[in-house]
Amino acid sequence: MSTIIKNGLVVLEEKSLIADLKIVDQKIVEIKENISATENDKVIDAIGKIVLPGVIDAHVHFNLNFGDCYTADDFVSGSKSASYGGTTTYIDFASPIREKTLLESLEKRLAEAGRDSYLDYTVHMEVTGWSSKNYQELKKIKEAGINSIKFYTTYGDTKVSVEQFADLFKTASELDLVLMIHAENDQILSEKKEQLIAQGKTQIKYHAVSRPLEAEVESIKTMINLANQFGTNLYIAHVSTEEGAKLIKEARKSNKKIMGETCPHYFILNDSLIELEDGAKYTMSPPLRKKANNQPLLNILAADGLQCVSTDHCSFDLQTKFAADHFYQLKCGVAGVETLLRTTYTYGVHNNKFDLIKLSNLLSTNPAKIFNLYPRKGVIKVGSDADIVIYDPKPELLLNERDLHSRCGYSIFNGIKLKGVVEYTILRGKILVDQGKFIATKKEGIFIKSQI
Ligand code: URP
Ligand code: ZN
Repeated sequence: MSTIIKNGLVVLEEKSLIADLKIVDQKIVEIKENISATENDKVIDAIGKIVLPGVIDAHVHFNLNFGDCYTADDFVSGSKSASYGGTTTYIDFASPIREKTLLESLEKRLAEAGRDSYLDYTVHMEVTGWSSKNYQELKKIKEAGINSIKFYTTYGDTKVSVEQFADLFKTASELDLVLMIHAENDQILSEKKEQLIAQGKTQIKYHAVSRPLEAEVESIKTMINLANQFGTNLYIAHVSTEEGAKLIKEARKSNKKIMGETCPHYFILNDSLIELEDGAKYTMSPPLRKKANNQPLLNILAADGLQCVSTDHCSFDLQTKFAADHFYQLKCGVAGVETLLRTTYTYGVHNNKFDLIKLSNLLSTNPAKIFNLYPRKGVIKVGSDADIVIYDPKPELLLNERDLHSRCGYSIFNGIKLKGVVEYTILRGKILVDQGKFIATKKEGIFIKSQI
């Protein structure tokens, strides 16, 4: 049996066209007008709808152990919630486990996702200050099908110290791994924190003040210099500021190996939310910035300054969020997998910042290319996996957090006006979301190895 999606606006790599799309055995086999169907075929009428490649969320944290607790979403609820939003593949993280090799830590994480995921997945291998980072260990990670490593410039003993940076840039370059970085200058953050404590300004409302934009900008500058020096593929995670994005845009004029992502909350929301009584809900790092930052960030995204939009989904329930008395006790991170496509479509395409091809690049093709999943993933093309989202752009709805499926129970986007809804999410030919209803019964997500 085949599935035929009829008369949708199909978004290909270079153009969009009204066409039919045929799926057989998990793959796209034909894209053209008037594909005839037999009575055994499943036909989906996509008239008036947009047919996009399944979203690849290149930055999620499911079942993340964060000090004394875990994120609200594990791989089951996280991947289910993501599939409601049109995502078909995500990239999580494998953290080094003490007393284990990086490879053992990786295998454990992949096994967990393999058991629990509705969607296809891979991971970025994290490297921490204390974990082994020698060449041989990372070579094995690469051979296991992982294309990227990540380090943090801040966060206690998870962070990699300044003295270790060059070594990691060199190793990543030699092994042709993408180096993903959480870029906030730790010294600036530490000094700011001490200063605020000394002034008695420790309430939650100081969260954004405690992580000033200079910390991001300074760190991005350092990382770009190192990437230029060592020829490393650099990917800056969750760029929150116009200033940081500009640095990446500028650096790309001479070096296309420098790349970055942002997340919808940075171009939609602003730091005034943290001043509210329930401000803890809106805390992540880097923090939300000034309102004046939203449009410029979106403009840079539209102008190829940044390559991907991901979510940094890291969900905590309200009890956990509200447990902090001081900004430095916060469990930072917010949910976003289910709203990634709808928010980016609304603020990008509907608001005329960019077109559907750009949307598809930012959410699917670019992450697939950067993390070596392309052309199996990230594109509507004959021979590619039939990972498809059918989007109805007509409805205009106020987002109601109660309609979402993250176990955290709330959304930072609650109440904002969104244009369009996800009607179908199809993973390797299998319908997971059918007319907005989740119908998958089995967790059949698979590990997608780097495509070399
Ligand atoms: O606050 C955030 N972003 N939490 C997730 C971990 C990270 O920094 O990406
Ligand atoms: Zn993250």
